[in-house]
Amino acid sequence: MTRTIVSVVGTRPNFMKTVPVVRALKRRREEFEHVLVHTGQHYDRSMSDVFFEELDVGPPDHLLSVGAGSHAVTTARVMERLEPLLEQLRPDLVLVPGDVNSTFAAALTASKLGIPVGHIEAGLRSFDRTMPEETNRVLTDQISDLLFIHSPEARDHLLAEGRFSEHIFGVGNTMIDTLVAMRQRIRNLDSPAQHGVEPSRYLVVTLHRPALVDGPLLAETLAHLSTVARDGLDVVFPIHPRTRSRMLEQGLDAAGVQLTDPLGYLDFLGLVERAAGVLTDSGGIQEETTYLGIPCFTLRENTERPVTIELGTNELLGLDPARILDVPEILARRNGAGVTVPPGWDGHAAERLVETLSSLQSFATLT
Ligand code: UD1
Repeated sequence: MTRTIVSVVGTRPNFMKTVPVVRALKRRREEFEHVLVHTGQHYDRSMSDVFFEELDVGPPDHLLSVGAGSHAVTTARVMERLEPLLEQLRPDLVLVPGDVNSTFAAALTASKLGIPVGHIEAGLRSFDRTMPEETNRVLTDQISDLLFIHSPEARDHLLAEGRFSEHIFGVGNTMIDTLVAMRQRIRNLDSPAQHGVEPSRYLVVTLHRPALVDGPLLAETLAHLSTVARDGLDVVFPIHPRTRSRMLEQGLDAAGVQLTDPLGYLDFLGLVERAAGVLTDSGGIQEETTYLGIPCFTLRENTERPVTIELGTNELLGLDPARILDVPEILARRNGAGVTVPPGWDGHAAERLVETLSSLQSFATLT
């Protein structure tokens, strides 16, 4: 008898985490039927469609078109629109990746319907409740039956919050699966040439978190990026829609910085792979740079991914835009030795996840 699994995705980073799982499930058609639901939290072509095309997964089976809104509105709309679909499909499991509003909204909807939930990327904690994602992480993990983790400290966090060891599965990093699978296509693109920059001579920048872009720190950040660009390191900055609208509202620009629309997955990783360094406030990019061995500077006070600092290339700058000015010098001093890829970041995490599902008689652990 086949078991039905519904995956719910909503934002750009969700897609890379779920696609390898979809592929692995589809390879076992005799065991699993898979249904892909996109909430539509991200909806621009450059934030959504392009990933489905590039990652060869085909369009989602259901699109909930929730669009933009406040946290409450997005969460509520996902719940309202997902509930009837889950009632109709009555899946054996709902899989949710990451920590965005769509993640928590889908987990809560399924949980209230008595449908088991599996959380991909469980157990990450920044211990910073001012981050909307931290609330999503903690709550999603509390109501998930199956907790799929990709770094060792995640297990400790989950155990400390009262979850049982037998429900925690160290399968590895499914987002890195996507990177491994796409590596040759990424290389073939020659992204630096497309963007008119020389390999190892430019900084890639992505910034979108409210703590940084919704207030006065944005103007300061852009001014410092201009200084870095003027003093010799090219700066390529694909702008997230949230950041772009804040720049427009405040009439901000960044002289000398290459500002572009959000890039597709292959083009973006093609730039990152040959960069001198990356400056970001994203979570996933801290992991991708760790895997690629590219120096990463995180413009935040904390990270829910400490393994990228302990084993990888990541350095926390703090929420302090003035530190951007130190980046060229740190890069010049760096010798690049001693970078390790964390265990389970090897391109096979989704296979292990699906193998785990296959081995379980029942997905329900909370009822
Ligand atoms: C969301 C996630 C964040 C994740 C990020 C990845 C939450 C709480 N936040 O943040 O954890 O790191 O996605 O990108 O879920 N917009 C568009 N077009 C789009 C998407 C967004 O114009 O396709 C604009 C809208 O005006 C929207 C704003 O960007 O209001 C913010 O979008 P939203 O999904 O609320 O949060 P993100 O900042 O993208």
